[in-house]
Amino acid sequence: MKHDTLERKAGLLAVLIVIAVSLGGLAEIVPLMFSSDVVEAAEGVSPYPALELEGRDIYIREGCYNCHSQMIRPFRDETERYGPYSLAGESVYDHPFQFGSKRTGPDLARVGGRYSDEWHRMHLINPRDLVPESNMPGFPWLVENTLDPDGTPVKMERLRMVGVPYTDEDIAGASSAVADKTEMDALIAYLQGLGLSSKGRR
Ligand code: HEC
Repeated sequence: MKHDTLERKAGLLAVLIVIAVSLGGLAEIVPLMFSSDVVEAAEGVSPYPALELEGRDIYIREGCYNCHSQMIRPFRDETERYGPYSLAGESVYDHPFQFGSKRTGPDLARVGGRYSDEWHRMHLINPRDLVPESNMPGFPWLVENTLDPDGTPVKMERLRMVGVPYTDEDIAGASSAVADKTEMDALIAYLQGLGLSSKGRR
């Protein structure tokens, strides 16, 4: 009988739908507002050094996340291939995080230290020189482009506003840390830190 009233009064139904959706929305959104208090940095995780931070931006710009995830799931086939599964506390300083869901290529969450810098350089210029069957595109222009040292401190200041604990010294030294470096240097530094210096030493 009550349901009958509800279905006949469109206005009342609309109001109740709005209330139900709002409550559901709050239950999803409110916990996210406090997640930075709840998720602590995992052991050994520190904010990205200036050069790695620039490399991360190039990773995003070039769309590497379209083919590579950075999230090792807690399944045996994954942990045996890639190493210990990823923890939330390893991505606290990632804005935005790079978990990804598409794996045309392997997961990169712990690729740091797996290859030499020179391997990455050759692989990024033309993957098929090292892996003949690879369908990863080459990124040869990264060798030509140099970084803009004026931009780095600004990025770090902005990240500090959203809770990344960069110190004044970190920011003061950022420009000189990236001066005269190429985009290739930065991207390789970023890749070599994944799973190591900036993402938990495990
Ligand atoms: C179109 C899909 C695609 C894109 C885009 C792509 N990759 Fe790949 N990547 C692959 C595939 C497939 C492999 C495996 C074959 C190989 O090693 O080349 C791979 C392998 C790799 C490896 C070696 C991983 C390992 O554990 O052996 C690294 C490192 C890597 N990619 C980095 C990058 C970076 C950095 C970018 C962005 C600049 C990028 N990839 C963009 C498809 C892609």
